[in-house]
Amino acid sequence: MILVTGGAGFIGANFVLDWLALNDEPVINLDKLTYAGNTESLQSLEQDARHTLVQGDIGDRALVSALLARHQIRAVVNFAAESHVDRSIHGPGEFIQTNIVGTFNLLESVRGYWQGLSQAPKEAFRFLHVSTDEVYGSLAKDDPAFTESNHLEPNSPYSASKAASDHLVRAWHHTYGLPVLTTNCSNNYGPYHFPEKLIPLMIVNALAGKLLPVYGDGLQIRDWLYVKDHCSAIRRVLEAGRLGETYNVGGWNEKANLEIVHTVCHLLDELRPRADGKPYQDQITSVTDRPGHDRRYAIDARKLERELGWKPLETFESGIRKTVQWYLDNPDWVAHVQSGAYRQWVQKQYHSGG
Ligand code: NAD
Ligand code: DAU
Repeated sequence: MILVTGGAGFIGANFVLDWLALNDEPVINLDKLTYAGNTESLQSLEQDARHTLVQGDIGDRALVSALLARHQIRAVVNFAAESHVDRSIHGPGEFIQTNIVGTFNLLESVRGYWQGLSQAPKEAFRFLHVSTDEVYGSLAKDDPAFTESNHLEPNSPYSASKAASDHLVRAWHHTYGLPVLTTNCSNNYGPYHFPEKLIPLMIVNALAGKLLPVYGDGLQIRDWLYVKDHCSAIRRVLEAGRLGETYNVGGWNEKANLEIVHTVCHLLDELRPRADGKPYQDQITSVTDRPGHDRRYAIDARKLERELGWKPLETFESGIRKTVQWYLDNPDWVAHVQSGAYRQWVQKQYHSGG
């Protein structure tokens, strides 16, 4: 059995759904169910005995230790985190608490359990930490893409907290021998993405006839990967990754934010034209830039490709079309996620009525 943390969030939910679609090994899903955790993303597993959702905090050592022992967990995949850069700028405290202190407590619970295992399960045990390309900092236009040997130079409270957690994971391997693996992935997109992030925000705002807020000049570059390709990379690293190593995950899809927004608009023009016949791009507006905004991320994923034979299945064109279609097909999921708390966030961040 495996323990997935943060499995009610965007990537975690996709991971759990794909995992159980591909094999029968049960999943214990530990999630605090913050604003970003959504049980509706896991609705198809409601009657599935292979999935158990436990509401709780990765920092709760008694709870985590009990789950590990009771279910004889053979691997932990740690998705649990505060994940939104803009929220980390408004309020970094939760990011320090979950991403750093929470990861520390999780590592200690796991270490205690792992040290008590007998030889065979001890050797087979794995702790996979899901991290981000943002820990490497920002690239200039012509810099080569981040490799695993880049220094960590995080610039936001979010990325600094993730970099700290990466350091803790590394240290627990070197000092205590804990069998860890770390993945550093680029920007994900796809189904169940919370509409505070660029792509889902643009889709839901466009459909609601609202403005599409682009920060600054909109020429910041991100490297986009369809979420299911990230999940397949994590499965592959879990299966065959070398202990103590980090693996970059990315799809070689660098795009400027404005290009992303225009692509979303064009797809919506095709799939759900505006009633007035005008293009969705008329809704694009420039807003104040994010403080400390990283200019460019780009991931070199050749280590993962070379060592473990991983390759993404989706191109950006196929993935973004599927994503836009998913939001059109799931208006209830979107409506339910836009709760009072969501509206308060939109009001705070964009100074609009949401
Ligand atoms: P998300 O914000 O959608 O989901 C995070 C989940 O963690 C939520 O379900 C939340 O309830 C849960 N959680 C938060 N604090 C917790 C705690 N203390 N204990 C237990 N559960 C807690 O995030 P996401 O986009 O799915 O990202 C998942 C992981 O992948 C994060 O670690 C993030 O840093 C990393 N990552 C994200 C991306 C991306 O583009 N979204 C890219 C690379 C890496
Ligand atoms: O690179 C991986 C990271 O990608 C993950 O570690 C983070 O958890 C994830 O949130 C994401 O971070 P970003 O800051 O890159 O994603 P976000 O969707 O918030 O923003 C993407 C780009 O779009 C960024 O340059 C900011 C810009 N943006 C974002 C929003 C929400 C806008 O221009 N307008 C917006 O309203």
